[in-house]
Amino acid sequence: MKKEFLDCYDLVVYQIYPRSFRDSDGDGIGDLCGIISKLDYIKSLGANAIWLCPIFKSPQCDNGYDISDYRDIDPTYGTMADFDRLLAAAHEKGIKVIMDFVANHTSSEHEWFKRARTSREDPYHDYYYWSEKPLTDWRAEFGGSTWEYNEPTGEYYLHSFAVGQPDVNWTNPKVREEYKAIVDFWVEKGVDGFRCDVLDHISKDFEKDMRRNGPHLHEYIREVFGRDHLKNIYTVGEAETTEESILATCGQDRRELKSVFQFSHLAVGRKGRYTPVPHKMDEVKDILVDWQRFTAEHDLLYILLTDNHDRPWFNSRMGDDRALRYESATCVATMVYLLKGIPFIYQGQEIGCANSHFSDLSAFNDVECLGYYEEEKGNIPDAELLEQINFGSRDNTRRPFAWDATPAHGFTTASEPWLPYASRSEEINLADDIAGEKSIFRFYESLFALRGERAVLRYGEWTQLQSEKEDCFIYLREDGKERILVVCNFEKKQTIDGLPEGKLLLSNYKRTSGANGEYAPYECAVYDLTE
Ligand code: GLC
Repeated sequence: MKKEFLDCYDLVVYQIYPRSFRDSDGDGIGDLCGIISKLDYIKSLGANAIWLCPIFKSPQCDNGYDISDYRDIDPTYGTMADFDRLLAAAHEKGIKVIMDFVANHTSSEHEWFKRARTSREDPYHDYYYWSEKPLTDWRAEFGGSTWEYNEPTGEYYLHSFAVGQPDVNWTNPKVREEYKAIVDFWVEKGVDGFRCDVLDHISKDFEKDMRRNGPHLHEYIREVFGRDHLKNIYTVGEAETTEESILATCGQDRRELKSVFQFSHLAVGRKGRYTPVPHKMDEVKDILVDWQRFTAEHDLLYILLTDNHDRPWFNSRMGDDRALRYESATCVATMVYLLKGIPFIYQGQEIGCANSHFSDLSAFNDVECLGYYEEEKGNIPDAELLEQINFGSRDNTRRPFAWDATPAHGFTTASEPWLPYASRSEEINLADDIAGEKSIFRFYESLFALRGERAVLRYGEWTQLQSEKEDCFIYLREDGKERILVVCNFEKKQTIDGLPEGKLLLSNYKRTSGANGEYAPYECAVYDLTE
């Protein structure tokens, strides 16, 4: 693997949702100074990079994924001076900074769009997609048609997401120049990478009914990210993840992206976003196995993750977030983060956060779930609709971080946060987790310390053992020098045998027997088999 790819295995990325991480100025909304105050916390977890969800100027119709100025910080989060301080402080502590790159759409309040919509002759008009009639019958991700009428020009514009997020026309070379300059602006400031939002949407083909993955996608990605001075910049795309498109985007000779998220294991246990379906952790395992094999075969990087700001908590759906919350959270973390790839931890995961339950729609803010409610009310009984939203809303993972059990949870000094705290914050918060006998945070610390100490867990080969055995996941990591065995049992108590024995390195029960023997529900153990 080329050095600039291989080095990525050393990353441990902590994803921050800035609105909900830590409020330093008492307005009930998290901010950059709040993040600065918690860098030591992030470092103590073992992370060495942060990905910041968008902090740019924005009317916040999609919490920052609607950008009105790519070169400025939204005042709710602070100033550019605060950002510069954050970047310097992070670098001083050995933490890299990854920005969100949102290039499929701007806010309708962006100067480009404000001008574009005034007249067909305006030089910015062609920065967006226009048509006298809707060109397709596409539904927008957040409800309604993707085509919105614009009075002054007598045309419709395209918005794949909210009405306030018009899609940018990447077929226009001037647009591509703009985005190259935006990337360069942040790289010159010293940022270390970009997480590229819905990147596969930047090329479309209306005639072929392709709203993403259009014919020029790879050419555009290369034009922006394939430039020589970006060689050591880390990039991770949110894009289509068929094997074919991952190969096309992340191949080391492609000059496109270093990595792309793979989300299919996160779709297990649900139909669409809002409906739970019966499931088994083995389904997740099988998907992870396929990707470990595929990425090894093609020498590609793989992202290890279970949570982000777009999904409810993995442990609430796939684990047991009540009686065995500690056991299932730590077992899942072990299973995923010791695979070969780049770990991404989403804020709150390290304390075992769980989904909330609210009986009133006013506790929700997510534009997507509110759009769903509007579309479905009347079709689905209200009580059922609310249950669905509790299950699937993106707000589950967007609620303010509970640093402790006090009424404002150490998040803010304001009487109300921007979004109600998670309904179990009194029980699930950092201070209580760390004080408890079983601490998920401390387990994460040990897990990432181990990953940091043992090169084999970062670069070594991966092999599955006992692939036929159900309700557990057993694998080896090995290089010429070291061998490590990972055993993760799932739901049921069962006996596992036939394994090589070694020295116990980590376990989430007080395991005294060796690698073979009985495993409790969600028990996991890691052994050093190095001779
Ligand atoms: C991505 C983001 C999501 C956002 C959407 C539109 O999927 O992760 O939060 O709503 O793009 O920008």
